[in-house]
Formats: sequence, C-alpha cells, structure tokens
Amino acid sequence: MKKIFLYIFLLLSFLTQAQVISGPMVGHTELRTSNIWMHFSNDIKSAYLVFYKNGTTQNTTSYFKINDGLFKTASALLYNLEPATTYTYDVFVDAKKDKVASGEITTQKLWQWRDKNAGVIPTFSFLTGSCAYINQPEYDRPGKPYGNDSSIFETMAKEKADFMLWLGDNWYTREVDYYSEWGLHERPARERAMPVYKNFLKAMPHYAIWDDHDYGWNDADKSYPLKETSREVFKQFWCNPSYGQNNQGIYTKTTWNDVDIFMLDDRWFRSNDETPDSIDGKVNLNKRMYGEQQMEWFKNALLQSNANHNISFRIIATGSQVLNPMSPYDCFRHYSAEYKEMMDFIKDNNINGVVFLTGDRHHSEVIKVDRNATYPLYDITASPLTSGSHNFGKEEKNNPYRVVGVENMQNYTKITFIGERKTRQMKVEFFDPKGIKQTDWTIGVKELSSPKEN
Ligand SMILES: [Fe+2]
Repeated sequence: MKKIFLYIFLLLSFLTQAQVISGPMVGHTELRTSNIWMHFSNDIKSAYLVFYKNGTTQNTTSYFKINDGLFKTASALLYNLEPATTYTYDVFVDAKKDKVASGEITTQKLWQWRDKNAGVIPTFSFLTGSCAYINQPEYDRPGKPYGNDSSIFETMAKEKADFMLWLGDNWYTREVDYYSEWGLHERPARERAMPVYKNFLKAMPHYAIWDDHDYGWNDADKSYPLKETSREVFKQFWCNPSYGQNNQGIYTKTTWNDVDIFMLDDRWFRSNDETPDSIDGKVNLNKRMYGEQQMEWFKNALLQSNANHNISFRIIATGSQVLNPMSPYDCFRHYSAEYKEMMDFIKDNNINGVVFLTGDRHHSEVIKVDRNATYPLYDITASPLTSGSHNFGKEEKNNPYRVVGVENMQNYTKITFIGERKTRQMKVEFFDPKGIKQTDWTIGVKELSSPKEN
C-alpha cells in the first residue's frame, strides 16, 4: 500500500515538474500590484493564478500572458491589492485543477505624506550582486571551471530583504549562445531551471540591469547584431517596471520607500571600448556609453527625483564601474565626454543623495571620489556572485580611493536604509556564500547633500 502511495506521489510530482520549467519568480511589486513570472513547458496552452489576501477566502483570478515561440515564459499581474499586505497565489495550467506552484508576495507600504512624525519611513533592505557564471563543461573553455559554488543563492533566499537587484552579467552567454536567437534564450532558460535558484526567485521581488555577458559577447557594444533579440530575452526573463523607450534599451527606474533606483543600460547605445577617447588632443564627443536618448531621460528623471522631498537616496545602478580612477578595465571614466556631462549635471543641479551601484569587477569595494565645493561621490561595486573572483591586482592593490573592499571571494551585498528622515542612513554589508559578513560601510543622507541644502 505504502508503495502505491509513493508511486502516485512520484507521478504527481513528475507531472507538475513537467508543466513548470522554472518559477515562480516575483517581479516588480509596488503598492497595489505585483507580478509573478513562470516558464512553462511547450505543451501548456494557458495558465492562470488565483490570489487572495492572507487570512481571507475571497480570491481573484489572473491569466498568464504566455510568450510565443519555443520558450513559454509568462507573467501574470496581481492587482487591486492593498498596500503593506501579504497575499498568497496558486498557479494552475490548462484549466485543470492541479496546482503547479504557489507562493506569497507582500506589497509596499504607503507612508508618503503620512510621515507627520519623522521616523515613519520604513526600515528596509535589498540584496544586490553581479556576475553569475554557471558551468556547462561541454561548452565552457577547457581548463579550470570559471563558475564556483552556486549555493550562494540558497543563502540569499534566507535573507530578510525586500527585493533583489541584479547588476548585470546575470548569466554568461558563450560561443554556443550569442550567435543565435535560440542560444540567447536557451542560456537563461537553462539556468533559471536549476534547483539552486528556486527558493531565491520566490523569496522576494527581482529587478535587473544587464552588462556585456547577458547582452552579448565580452565587451559587447551597440553594434551587437542580435541586440533586438537580447532585449526581447531580457523582457521575457525579467519583470522590470519598463524597458527603455521607443523599443530602445532596457533602462528604467523603480522607487522603494524613500529611495529612487535608476537602472541604466550601459550596452545598447555604447560606442566600442576601443573608440579613441580623444582625437588630436580634443575630447571625442562621439564616444558614448549611455547615448543621447538615455542621457536625456536620465537627466529629466534625476531632476524629477531631486524635487521629490520624499526621496532621500538616489541610487544609480549600472553594469560596470563609474568612478574608479585606478581601474584599467571597463569604467565610465574612460568615456570622458559623457562622463563629464553626467558629473556636471549632477553638480550643477545640486542633485542630492547620489550613490553609484555597479558590478562586473569580480571583486567588491566602495570607491570614494571627492568633488570641489560639494559632497563626495561613492561607487559601490558588488561582484561576483558565482564567477571566478580575484585579488585587486597590481594597479589597484593600494587604491587610495577605496574605502572598503572584498577580494578573492564570491560575495553578495545587502543594503539597508535605517532611521528618520533627517538622519537617514544607508548601511552596506558584504557577505560570503555562507552568509558570513566580511565588511560593512555606512553613509548618512547628510553626508550626501549639496552645500545649498546644508
Ligand atoms: Fe561585465
């Protein structure tokens, strides 16, 4: 008898697994909506979820929008939700009553304009990191595997955090992937389905930007021939609030409590790295990383944010480092004209609370760069999640701009916002794959304000 039950159980779990390739993953979640992402098997024609407020029985049904083609990724909207409330969702396929997945989401809190007594701004945290290489020996370069222990995602799933921000190189396309549309889809589809991601994808909302390896090949630029497909893949595998403008790029912005996060696209509009930074001693105005369209959006978005007194910190997230004067590698500084354009804009418009958040480097650090007559800028680099780590190297060994650093170690970063409006602080902690803290660094909102505002 016991054996029969065991066979029935195995058969049921096989059927469920066969219908779901990966997911659920929680996507963009705000005050009154949330999104659930799934990847279904190709035989699934339709799918829906039923959601209800915890502790109640009244439920609502929402259908998945399933993408066409060989990869049936899908997302469903949870709507008409109440702020700061937890909901349960159950996923069903093809009008059958078999539940194939379930989970919980919690909406953000509505505190804006209700903050009569300072101190009401919620304390909250998010996780961040970059560079997640998963080995596939038959297609990897021969020799020592580049990817390391991926159990870091199991540790991250257990963290108490409000969301995860992936900083690029979230997967690594390789020769077998980046020459074909199918290959560009196959890489994230394969990795999402790995058991090690399962709990993490469900545990909190996920947001992402990309860098070269999940956009195209190493150091890929605006000439990458399959960039339209890369953008489609990005849209199919993430649930961001939006994806660039006019079908160009993937830049967007999200707000969590008193923090605006600008998520920049350092690839779609990018001039090749080999473009001369200056010609005949004159800075080359045609060498751009973000491009005119994105810069125009970014400047307006910064001004809008700076005028919003509910916002304390403005985090500018982008794939590779921005400020590091000692970096011999990918760094926005090597795009002199556009770098100056962005820095001048931030300074001239007294944009407060600016902190850069970057990845790509295979080590973590906080870089501090002083500015004349205003507050210093910081670049927090969080890397690598699973890719090979390295030491700071000869050129950067004693980088005088480094405030804290983590080298030779996989790591993830947790950023927490604590305290009242006037004394609000941002605490940055770096953890190893087991969740053991390596170092931390804290900055107050007062230390990031233009002289005019002091
Ligand atoms: Fe990169």
